[in-house]
Amino acid sequence: MCGIFGCALLNGDNSGEVLYNSLKRLEYRGYDSAGQATIDAGKMIVAKGVGKIDEVNSSQGLSRMRGKIGIGHTRWATHGAPSKENAHPHLDCSGRIAVVHNGIIENFMELRNALQERGHVFRSRTDSEVIPHLIEDFMRRGKGFVEAVRLAAENLRGSFASAAICLDEPDKIVCIRMESPLILGIGTIGNFCSSDIPALLPYTNKVIPLEDGDLAIVDARGIKILDWRTGSALEREVLEVSWSPEVAMKSGFAHFMLKEIHEQPMAIRNVLRGQRIYYELAASMLKRASKIFLVACGTSYHACLFGSYAMANLAGLTAHPVIASEFEAQCKNLIDGKTSVLAISQSGETADTLNAVRAAKARGASIIGITNTMGSSLTRLSDVYIGQNSGPEVGVAATKTFTAQVVVLLKLAMELARSEGRRNGAVDSLAEELSGLPSKMEAVIRASEERVKGIALKYSAKGSFCFLARGVNVPTALEGRLKLLELSYLPALAYPAGESKHGFIAVVEEGYPVIFLAPRDSTRDRILGNMMEMKARGASIIALIEEGDEELKQLADDFVEMPPCANELLYPAIYVIPLQLFAYYVSTLKGYDPDMPRNLAKSVTVV
Ligand code: AGP
Repeated sequence: MCGIFGCALLNGDNSGEVLYNSLKRLEYRGYDSAGQATIDAGKMIVAKGVGKIDEVNSSQGLSRMRGKIGIGHTRWATHGAPSKENAHPHLDCSGRIAVVHNGIIENFMELRNALQERGHVFRSRTDSEVIPHLIEDFMRRGKGFVEAVRLAAENLRGSFASAAICLDEPDKIVCIRMESPLILGIGTIGNFCSSDIPALLPYTNKVIPLEDGDLAIVDARGIKILDWRTGSALEREVLEVSWSPEVAMKSGFAHFMLKEIHEQPMAIRNVLRGQRIYYELAASMLKRASKIFLVACGTSYHACLFGSYAMANLAGLTAHPVIASEFEAQCKNLIDGKTSVLAISQSGETADTLNAVRAAKARGASIIGITNTMGSSLTRLSDVYIGQNSGPEVGVAATKTFTAQVVVLLKLAMELARSEGRRNGAVDSLAEELSGLPSKMEAVIRASEERVKGIALKYSAKGSFCFLARGVNVPTALEGRLKLLELSYLPALAYPAGESKHGFIAVVEEGYPVIFLAPRDSTRDRILGNMMEMKARGASIIALIEEGDEELKQLADDFVEMPPCANELLYPAIYVIPLQLFAYYVSTLKGYDPDMPRNLAKSVTVV
């Protein structure tokens, strides 16, 4: 997720200052590099660099750039590490067109190759840079700037919110939108485009959210919106926003955590757009390994548990999940040059995980990284890494980054299965069902949030909870426990349900809340037995059940109905959502701040 902003000023020529101040308000969307382009006295002026916006401003003078029109970008890298070359804006060969982009261009490699064959010279490793060269290519064939942008849009596949300026028509910004948000601002000093509302509020509260397929022409005196597929003019309602900038940064949600729970479908769409080449490279390394370890901490360790299950069940591979801080003690005598370590870290900076990686490297192991942070230490220590593409996660509690890791690991297990020639029919049908996962997640959020809120209210005074599940749902139960524990400060528990009679059941007394994950998969009937055991001892049964499971509805004191999945490997990314919401609402009901839970940091960079 990146932040883009554009301004077309009526009188002033301080577009550099307007862009800089606006990018500062979009910094929560990404901050590994930044840049701006303005048109001043008939020239394209570009300044960009690596680092947070203030650092780039100090070195490049962003706020001092002149001109009536300009575009700016603050980056969260997905393709290509943070570097000056990879920072936006990107230019065409002639330097007469500048573009900023937020999203993922799925077909960027084929476009790049075709453009290079037509003589275009690329400077970066990003997917975004294909956009200015595409526009240039159409203008070389006699198209005007707006028509060239429209034709470029027709050739792009994936998600994009993009703004372009051109010396040939220096009074306008041309924007296109597909899936990634882009909002126009109608102001008195000029008109604007922005990834998000907060950056517009200092200039206007009159906004027009663009829709998929919209092309907008923004100049200082007005805006025009077209359907880029037909070229026909469109009317869009102007909305008046009453949000404060603080609320607007959370898109109207009370907390970043709730916003990020709701962002999960979009985050998973971006994971599903990840370039297959990285999965093929990782799979080839894992296939050559005699031993495989999955290493991480906290939520990322729960993703490792899922990954181990998926690799065993899809690809017949043994991958040992190990908590990073225990890795050396447990495994140091097992590591050699034929070992592969798959390290998972959203931040890419968790000290325990990095120490485990360094210890494994010192003994000759190959390292595969899965991270959300391009340019992080983990990416530099890895032989190959896969980006989660989930965008910055501001809430300390991991939510969208967990489901993103789960889907990355599922895709990797599928790649391993394919490369082994195993179960291709099953893998193909799983791939088909996986493509519908974001929509299913959207439906779960819509259908379950209010019900979960009610359950949180009913049980928020309880002193402890236990989460029970079987099979592939055990990592989800552990993750639900961690969410509740770290946000409500309650001593929550979680076990494989089969383990409950080996100890936990002693805790159960009248009214003790036990939360079951009970999809109608291979584990359901055993879970039913566990539910009855707990109920017989007075437990309050809260169950996530499959839609229409009347038997479990009768048995549970409270339940949330969930959609069915043909392949049980899809359950974790779906069943974790009500558990995230439950932890969030219990935390807020207790008067805590779920974005900043006590004693916790977003990235634990100490051991
Ligand atoms: C999860 O909600 C916590 N924020 C914490 O357990 C976190 O998952 C852990 O510290 C690992 O962080 P990483 O993925 O950045 O390495």
